[in-house]
Amino acid sequence: MLYTEKVVSGYNKVMIVNHIDIQVDKGEMVSIIGRNGVGKSTLMKTLIGLNKVEKGKIYLGNRDITKTKAYTRAQIGIGYVPQGHGVFPLLTVEENLIMGRNINSRKAADNFEIVYSYFPRLKERKKQKAGTMSGGEQAMLSIGRVLIGAPEIILLDEPSEGVQPNVVSQMGEILIKISKELKITILMVEQHMGLIQQISDRGYVMDKGSIVASISKEQIHNSEEIRRYLTI
Ligand SMILES: Nc1ncnc2c1ncn2[C@@H]1O[C@H](COP(=O)(O)OP(=O)(O)OP(=O)(O)O)[C@@H](O)[C@H]1O
Ligand SMILES: [Mg+2]
Repeated sequence: MLYTEKVVSGYNKVMIVNHIDIQVDKGEMVSIIGRNGVGKSTLMKTLIGLNKVEKGKIYLGNRDITKTKAYTRAQIGIGYVPQGHGVFPLLTVEENLIMGRNINSRKAADNFEIVYSYFPRLKERKKQKAGTMSGGEQAMLSIGRVLIGAPEIILLDEPSEGVQPNVVSQMGEILIKISKELKITILMVEQHMGLIQQISDRGYVMDKGSIVASISKEQIHNSEEIRRYLTI
């Protein structure tokens, strides 16, 4: 579904992401874990096209998207939920969803009800300004906003950030349902052990801009090992 070959990227000649090879197959839920500042968000921004690839390649299916604009990547099926959720605070819930739909208006015309079926709270709150919602509600909205564009793969950057612990596990359940029922692939950056263990089929560990380990489902459930990767 999505794979990279020795991708290098960064900011203003300072390279942050260093020869990254990752692969996510159709229907998988894969996590990228690692401490603060190791380059996880930079990698995600590179995958969606907000950061330029300096070296290496990115493929979506058979298509080389290394030089494809972010807007086009969204249209051809990559949904991106940035760290901090990135909702438009002054727009209502419904208007935020419309912004997501406009990326891919043809396919997404009827997707409001699908989004509301996974997130009934968003329907109840559709006239509320997004900035006045709780962290958990904003997280749900940010996921709804990409879901409405009918993506094939969703890139999630720390969806648990600013979300109450009990809501994080609800969010995990919804992500699992979305992935299974709508056959959407998920690549998630996370540091929240509970969410990592709840949804991941497998994972990668990132450190200092590189992938330093690939972790199996069994290893994901070894809390001591995961804690070590998150805190070393
Ligand atoms: N816009 C930017 N311009 C220059 N440097 C940046 C920019 N964004 C991030 N960096 C630097 O890139 C490095 C990696 O940051 P990044 O946000 O990718 O890490 P992260 O693993 O996502 O961290 P966190 O877990 O805190 O979200 C850091 O040293 C950071 O200071
Ligand atoms: Mg980050």
